[in-house]
Amino acid sequence: MRTLLAALLLLLVAPLASAQSFNEALTECPATLTGSSQPEQIHLQLADSHDEMMVMWATEVRGDAEVEWSSSAGDASASGESYCYNHDKAFHMALMTGLPLGEEISYRVGDGSTWSPELSFTTINPDAEHFEWISIADHGMSEEGQQVSDGIISDQNAQLVTISGDISYADGDQNVWDDWFEIQQSSMVSIPWVPTVGNHENEPGPGFIPYEHRFDSDEVKESEGFWYARDMPGVHMVFISSEHPFDEGSAQFNWIKADLEAANSEQAREERPFIIIFSHKPMYSSNSYHGSEVELRDALEALYVENEVDLIVAGHDHFYERTHPVISEQVVENGPVHLVIGIGGRSAYEELDEPQPEWSAYRENSSYGWTRLVYDGESRTIDFTHHRIDGSIGDSFTLYEGGEMVMPEVENSLGIAGINALLTLTALLGAALFTDR
Ligand SMILES: [Fe+2]
Ligand SMILES: [Fe+2]
Repeated sequence: MRTLLAALLLLLVAPLASAQSFNEALTECPATLTGSSQPEQIHLQLADSHDEMMVMWATEVRGDAEVEWSSSAGDASASGESYCYNHDKAFHMALMTGLPLGEEISYRVGDGSTWSPELSFTTINPDAEHFEWISIADHGMSEEGQQVSDGIISDQNAQLVTISGDISYADGDQNVWDDWFEIQQSSMVSIPWVPTVGNHENEPGPGFIPYEHRFDSDEVKESEGFWYARDMPGVHMVFISSEHPFDEGSAQFNWIKADLEAANSEQAREERPFIIIFSHKPMYSSNSYHGSEVELRDALEALYVENEVDLIVAGHDHFYERTHPVISEQVVENGPVHLVIGIGGRSAYEELDEPQPEWSAYRENSSYGWTRLVYDGESRTIDFTHHRIDGSIGDSFTLYEGGEMVMPEVENSLGIAGINALLTLTALLGAALFTDR
């Protein structure tokens, strides 16, 4: 009986003990860390203000966090924070401040004696008339994921990458995060990657702790790290968590409501005509693997409609789908358009709901790639293009101010469906050629 009691007690205490050890490991790095002080996994992170930029990196051995930068405003430096979590690396973050907008900044990070190479980025001017960015989801490190990374790294014009969750698929193996950041580093040192959490960021054991410490730290960002918004040229971007409570009355719901209401005010819309939500799970998906997250739709769709959200960029189902403007599964003239872009490299979910729901405008179930969005301040439009890793274009459309979505003019008798079919055919031919080699 006593053994049984002891076993029961152990069962009760064990999860508590491991949770506690993670919390204890949040700041102090152990002296037992050995190896190089050379910065690795260097990546920029957007700060609350455009004249600031956060830079984060890792080292094998513990040490200080220093950043030095220079711009037209002169030379400057700052000390940052160093911290650990349950992994054999030290992590560092430091904030560059007082940066001139829309200008190139050169910088380097280190511990004061060992430095990274000289790096550079261009600050975002939130009032610029032109802005380009890449959006991806469900990335990981497969061969296809690597091709998506290569596509992003070779893009010279994108000023930002958004990632709608399911990022590295570390799933408890922290070395996977190290490898993922190393692969993206040549992009991430020059443009910030802005994430939302997916179910794979809630890792077995540590939960969201690795995510929080690799993209930002509780020590510095005091707001709710899992839902936040950023004003970009022409676009108010809202990053939500489909992995935390979002029902009416929840902290996240209240925050989204207040944020969207402010972003949809007349003056805010004049400055930034578009509101885009980035979420991991989709409200609309006709993929048979996960499908529409009806709970998410029940909780938040009305908020999106009331505040005239233009576009929702989700992942989770590993395929590509664009809806018509849709509200409550009804196709409408003006309404939010939903995208699922879970094509960043993880195995495609090929089984689709049949027949295709009326609200589903276009879908692909076996391609991989990324999407590019271009805001033009003169026409007040966003041009969207879906790039497949074989170099072909899968889908494209233009978002117009006021929520009205108009397909591009087609100068032949095939119509839009015909063009899509042609593009699919081209992709299939391309795929066949690729396989033959
Ligand atoms: Fe995924
Ligand atoms: Fe997912």
